[in-house]
Amino acid sequence: MTWTKGYHEDHMAVLVLLAKLEGNLKDLEKGQYNCGINLDFKEFGDIIKTVIIPHFKKEETDVYPQIAKIDTTSEHIIDKMLEEHRQLYDSFGDYLQAIDETDNQALIRSGHEILRVLGHHIHKEEELLPKLIKKAKKI
Ligand SMILES: [Fe+2]
Ligand SMILES: [Fe+2]
Repeated sequence: MTWTKGYHEDHMAVLVLLAKLEGNLKDLEKGQYNCGINLDFKEFGDIIKTVIIPHFKKEETDVYPQIAKIDTTSEHIIDKMLEEHRQLYDSFGDYLQAIDETDNQALIRSGHEILRVLGHHIHKEEELLPKLIKKAKKI
């Protein structure tokens, strides 16, 4: 199924990066801000732009509509997923702006928001997708 290609791999890679982000945010909160952490925060910003946002767009135009076709009762779940995407686009914008402006308080706030919502969002998709793929194979 081409619409699921790379989906799981992206999720796993982003979960690893979220764990790294969490550690860096803790260091920043303790006042341990240095060049290495700074680069990590910037790197995560690049990942948002080059991996996470394109992944979201693909889900919105391809993956979620496929899910809706396979499971007509999934409308509510997809609405919730789209709502989380919208919430995350806002947090991504705040995070990227905080990096540009070297605003550590805004970085901590948006970073925690991303950790909370994106972690939960990925786990939910990982739970849901295999079930739907199984269902699709039976159709
Ligand atoms: Fe998603
Ligand atoms: Fe996803």
